[in-house]
Parts: sequence; C-alpha cells; structure tokens
Amino acid sequence: MTEQRKLPIVVLLSGSGSNLQAIIDSAADDLPVEIRGVVSNRADAFGLERARRAAIPTRVLDHTGYPDRAAYDRALIAAIDEYQPALVILAGFMRILTPDFVKHFQGRLLNIHPSLLPKYRGLHTHRRALEAGDRMHGASVHLVTEELDGGPVILQVRVPVEPGDDEAALAARVLTQEHRIYPAVIRWFAEGRLRVNRGGIELDGEILQGPMVMEFNQVTAG
Ligand code: GAR
Repeated sequence: MTEQRKLPIVVLLSGSGSNLQAIIDSAADDLPVEIRGVVSNRADAFGLERARRAAIPTRVLDHTGYPDRAAYDRALIAAIDEYQPALVILAGFMRILTPDFVKHFQGRLLNIHPSLLPKYRGLHTHRRALEAGDRMHGASVHLVTEELDGGPVILQVRVPVEPGDDEAALAARVLTQEHRIYPAVIRWFAEGRLRVNRGGIELDGEILQGPMVMEFNQVTAG
C-alpha cells in the first residue's frame, strides 16, 4: 500500500449528517483524509451519532448559549482550531457565518448547497425549483466567501426533476448525488489537485473558469 499523507479535516453540521457519512465511508475506502473532529451547534444532530460510531471526536457548541453571532463564531473558531484542520467542511451546518469566521478559514472552507448555484441561494431550494417548474435541479460544492452561498462553485451535479416530484422526493434524489460530489471535491483538495490562491481556484494547474459539472447517476441500493 502506498503511503499518502492524510489531509486533516473538520466537519460542521446541524442535522442528519448523511454527507458526513459519505465522507466517513469514502475515508474508510481510499479518500486520504483524517476526520479530526465533528462539530455541531445542535446536541440532537444525528450526525454526532454517526461520528461517534466511527470513533471521531465530537463537540457540541450550542449557539443558544451565546449573546450574539460574533461571540458564537469566536468560540466556534477556537473549537475548530484545536483540531488544526487543513480543510473545514460545512455539511448541513445551518448557520450564517460572520465575515470574521470566513476570513479566518479563507481558502480552506467548503460548503455544499442543494441547488445549481447561483440559483436558489438560502433555504427551501427544492420547493423553489418545483415552484419555478425547473426541469433540472442539483447541488453545488463551493468555496465559502462572505457572500451567503455566493462563493465560487467548484463542482455541481445536475439532477432531473421528475413529473410528480414533491419536495421530499426531489430532495432525496439530490441528496444521493451530494454524496458523490462532496467526497470528489475533498479528494481533489487532499490530493493537491485543487489549489486556492489569489488568482482563483486551480484544478490540475488550470484556473477554473466555471464549475465542473457531473451528470446525474442513479445510485442503486445494495
Ligand atoms: C444537504 O442537503 C445540504 O446540501 C443542505 O443540508 C442538507 C444536509 O444533509 N445544506 C444547506 O442547505 C446549506 N445551506 P445531511 O445532514 O444529511 O448531510
């Protein structure tokens, strides 16, 4: 087996953590990352349970215990820094981050968002895609900047909207594809293929002029 240095990462989440699970599963296979910690703002997030099952250290930082967003984000920075990650992964972390937080992790902070950005920043993306009558929806992995869901998109997956879809059906179809694109981008980063510098995002030595795009691929169970 070839020795490869593993990229230290920290994952932030607020809920189910299925994207965390996809990263855990990929790391158990051949994704060269070490998940040093999982941090949640909610004690009841199922993602924490997934982390514990994989023997990953967890930390709950309940935002309701802080006077304001700035104080919370300062505590969050300190909690993350203890793990000394090279990359911070937002995986369903449902909080708006302060500019100071974003600056602190600039160039090493990724988010996954359930839409084809720049369409449908913010919440209720599946409902909005259905209401607009879109035939194509999807998810995006992007670098986080101070603009909410506005940072440069690295990879998107396009997901068809099927006749008769409701919000839950569409969300589930998109989520299976999120589990493909997040580990893929993390792999590029971990393997040194993806670099962020002042000139932009470089993939294999070329500045990305726009997002890379994956097509929908039905994941079959079992
Ligand atoms: C995912 O669909 C992710 O794209 C979305 O939350 C879900 C988390 O699922 N994130 C956002 O909406 C961020 N604005 P998970 O907890 O099962 O990974």
